[in-house]
Amino acid sequence: MDRILVVCYSYTGTSRQLAQLLCAQLGWPMGEIVEARQRAGPTGTLRCVADSLLRRRPLIRYDGPDPGEFETVVLVSPIWIYRLAGPMRSFVADRVADLRRVAVVSVMGAQGASNAVAEIGRLLGHAPMAATSFTSREVDDGSCADRLQGFGRALQAIRPDVAQVSADSGSPRAA
Ligand SMILES: Cc1cc2nc3c(=O)[nH]c(=O)nc-3n(C[C@H](O)[C@H](O)[C@H](O)COP(=O)(O)O)c2cc1C
Repeated sequence: MDRILVVCYSYTGTSRQLAQLLCAQLGWPMGEIVEARQRAGPTGTLRCVADSLLRRRPLIRYDGPDPGEFETVVLVSPIWIYRLAGPMRSFVADRVADLRRVAVVSVMGAQGASNAVAEIGRLLGHAPMAATSFTSREVDDGSCADRLQGFGRALQAIRPDVAQVSADSGSPRAA
């Protein structure tokens, strides 16, 4: 079984940029969540808001390696209205059986990541092994790079059999 897969959903490109950087830093493969119905313009943004408020699970397609073939899956997605972005909610709910160990990377303007981590934990039935967040500004100006690489290396160093839950912490820990 392979070790670590990064799965990303991105609406305006920032989470994808971060996910691609993480994969380039650590040599990990990446999969992407794509919406069946494209979001565009003000209507698309309104739908993001409604999806978040109503905790909807929009129809998605997943393009990438089978998450069930990996020990750990790193989920990268934006925050919408202080909550998990709808398409990532759909992915976690659809693939819960394949997501044995999950780390979460949230991308946001300023806040809301802890709600997304908690929701992923509820969907999985267990808390993610690690979580961190970055602002879109940190991604845009490249200042995210060192902390992102540190997070990735720490994940890589964890032996799956001793991974300890530490939701919403900056770095994963081994028991
Ligand atoms: C509909 C909508 C709601 C958002 N709500 C929040 C929020 O509650 N908190 C926050 O910090 N950022 C919020 N943002 C900002 C995004 O999380 C941020 O721009 C992120 O980088 C977008 O990632 P993406 O480019 O991968 O889609 C929101 C953006 C959109 C489009």
